[in-house]
Amino acid sequence: MKYLSSYFTFATAVALLFSFNLSSADSDEKFVECLYNYPHITNSISNAVHTRTNSSYSSVLDVSIQNRRFLNITSKPQVIVTPLDVSHIQATIICAQRHGLQIRTRSGGHDYEGLSYVAGVPFVILDLITLRGIEVDVENSTAWVEAGATIGELYYRISQKSRTLGFPAGECPPVGVGGHFSGGGYGYMMRKYGLAADHVIDAKIVDVNGNLLDKETMGEDLFWAIRGGGGASFGVIVAWKIKLVPVPSTVTVFQVARTLEENATEIIHKWQRVANKFNESITMKANMVRVNSSKSGNPTVEAQFISLYLGRVDELIPMMQKIFPELGLVREECTEMSWIESILWKAGFANGEPTDVLLNRTQLIGLLFFKAKSDYVRDPIPDDGLEGLWPFFYEDEAKDAYIQFTPYGGRMDEISESETPFAHRSGYIFHIQYGVYWEEKGDEAAQRYMNWIRRVYKYMKPYVSESPRAAYMNYRDLDIGVNNNGYTSFSQASIWGFKYFGNNFNRLAQVKTRVDPRNFFRNEQSIPPLISNGGANRPSWVPL
Ligand SMILES: Cc1cc2nc3c(=O)[nH]c(=O)nc-3n(C[C@H](O)[C@H](O)[C@H](O)COP(=O)(O)OP(=O)(O)OC[C@H]3O[C@@H](n4cnc5c(N)ncnc54)[C@H](O)[C@@H]3O)c2cc1C
Ligand SMILES: *[C@@H]1O[C@H](CO)[C@@H](O)[C@H](O)[C@H]1NC(C)=O
Ligand SMILES: *[C@@H]1O[C@H](CO)[C@@H](O)[C@H](O)[C@H]1NC(C)=O
Ligand SMILES: *[C@@H]1O[C@H](CO)[C@@H](O)[C@H](O)[C@H]1NC(C)=O
Ligand SMILES: *[C@@H]1O[C@H](CO)[C@@H](O)[C@H](O)[C@H]1NC(C)=O
Ligand SMILES: *[C@@H]1O[C@H](CO)[C@@H](O)[C@H](O)[C@H]1NC(C)=O
Ligand SMILES: *[C@@H]1O[C@H](CO)[C@@H](O)[C@H](O)[C@H]1NC(C)=O
Ligand SMILES: *[C@@H]1O[C@H](CO)[C@@H](O)[C@H](O)[C@H]1NC(C)=O
Repeated sequence: MKYLSSYFTFATAVALLFSFNLSSADSDEKFVECLYNYPHITNSISNAVHTRTNSSYSSVLDVSIQNRRFLNITSKPQVIVTPLDVSHIQATIICAQRHGLQIRTRSGGHDYEGLSYVAGVPFVILDLITLRGIEVDVENSTAWVEAGATIGELYYRISQKSRTLGFPAGECPPVGVGGHFSGGGYGYMMRKYGLAADHVIDAKIVDVNGNLLDKETMGEDLFWAIRGGGGASFGVIVAWKIKLVPVPSTVTVFQVARTLEENATEIIHKWQRVANKFNESITMKANMVRVNSSKSGNPTVEAQFISLYLGRVDELIPMMQKIFPELGLVREECTEMSWIESILWKAGFANGEPTDVLLNRTQLIGLLFFKAKSDYVRDPIPDDGLEGLWPFFYEDEAKDAYIQFTPYGGRMDEISESETPFAHRSGYIFHIQYGVYWEEKGDEAAQRYMNWIRRVYKYMKPYVSESPRAAYMNYRDLDIGVNNNGYTSFSQASIWGFKYFGNNFNRLAQVKTRVDPRNFFRNEQSIPPLISNGGANRPSWVPL
């Protein structure tokens, strides 16, 4: 919990700073008073304001915490606002600036480092859980989706209107569209259609001055920035307009597993050479975990090949036999279903479960501690590199760990690096996600599991991209660099910024400079404005 302790140090400094002016209780009260007195409020705001004295405070705070690492920590918001309409967002943005509070915006709460609800300074959570309307327009293959909706809700609403429309976003139904689309967003249709962000055609955002902007009024540069550069640095996204994509009425899925004894290393060897070159209608991930061998009972590594094919099994089998015979895929391992059923299947629901389970925002993995990291690969990892990786799986800390390879290629190769802030396109053959879950409480356990994943990451250095060692912003990782909260120099932020965004980081900083020059919207990994103030930017809430 290295970074948390540095937040606390900073929080202490801020607390001292404020003690000369007003106690934080005073500032909470004044902030709430400001909300109640804000002009042009359309719905009553009192139903949207949760202070520490409201009984709703804890349940509203905890319901969207998706990582136990951040469930019970001392940095809690002064107030939570769950806006019922845009005017409540505008009031929160204006009043927070007036009363020295930061804002953390939360949609689905899946941020891997809890940045949507943890801050080491006095802050307010703007939680969009009640803004989740979805309007699907089948005739035009578009939809308006409010930022607090989940991807599960979106998929469900689409499926209620059409069997042959879908959307290329992630797998885990409770992920929020606010964070997910603004950071990129990928799933099993990435090779065919690219990212969720590639299909955003309009958006509504409230800026630092409280103005509600759309694609026309926000300017091309801001519309570019929020489709992969993260929303949190630029304002509060209220809704997205997206272009839906055609899906066949029948798709095919399969998951086959091969252990090391069943030649997993050789199969991954081949996978690395074909998975990004398959017909783009096939996405086949390779997920590595530890299991007990069914033969010997001893621990071994299992590679699970999890796939979606946008077509029928009759077409799939001959294609696989031709390009990837090593897998030995047979028809019995495949299942045909509708696209929406494939969403349930990937989310781990049993066959035949009603599709409205996608509306459930609660997920059990939120009860576990979790840490993840990411990498990008340009050239296949040699067999000795893979063989050196397997022993990490036999360590105690790896009992609930995974390493997942997701192939690129297809549509991803056709979109230029600067089209959106998401720079990882042509030239990357796959990305890696490393993840580890644990149940034991306490710092000592956390240290052990985090060390495990950091050692794996260190081991992988020779085999992954360099200059920069690229990373996926939606797999937020504070290990790769943090802003010195509030006092961020461009060069300090560029350490993590180039990893997430490549050369697009410069342009993101220019957009930030235009739309939020005083750096009100900020967090440990927000884009800094380019204005330099002795190498540091003065946070907007520090009096001149
Ligand atoms: C279980 C799990 C499965 C996942 N699966 C996938 C996957 O398949 N594919 C994939 O690409 N990613 C996946 N992710 C990562 C996911 O895309 C990111 O965590 C994403 O940022 C989550 O969005 P959120 O709204 O749920 O999170 P939040 O924690 O609410 O937000 C994440 C970030 O976005 C900001 N933000 C949120 N809403 C807004 C808004 N309305 N306006 C401005 N800023 C906002 C927050 O302040 C924060 O910085 C997964 C994550 C988890 C935990
Ligand atoms: C919180 O408490 C205040 C004061 O009792 C009340 O006016 C407000 O409606 C409560 N908020 C919610 C969300 O219930
Ligand atoms: C949260 O912290 C409090 C006080 O430190 C402790 O009493 C409580 O058991 C903790 N709850 C969980 C779920 O860890
Ligand atoms: C499709 O788009 C057109 C043009 O924007 C619009 O006039 C029409 O109402 C839309 N169709 C539906 C069903 O909303
Ligand atoms: C593993 O590969 C060897 C040599 O290529 C082969 O003989 C054997 O049948 C394979 N094992 C499995 C389970 O496919
Ligand atoms: C992929 O397969 C589909 C159906 O089998 C075919 O129509 C399409 O042309 C193929 N695409 C490529 C790039 O080969
Ligand atoms: C594997 O075997 C170990 C030791 O026998 C046991 O503790 C563990 O629960 C087993 N794991 C699984 C996934 O079955
Ligand atoms: C939602 O999912 C959680 C976790 O799987 C489960 O415990 C809960 O019962 C579900 N709620 C509903 C309404 O189905």
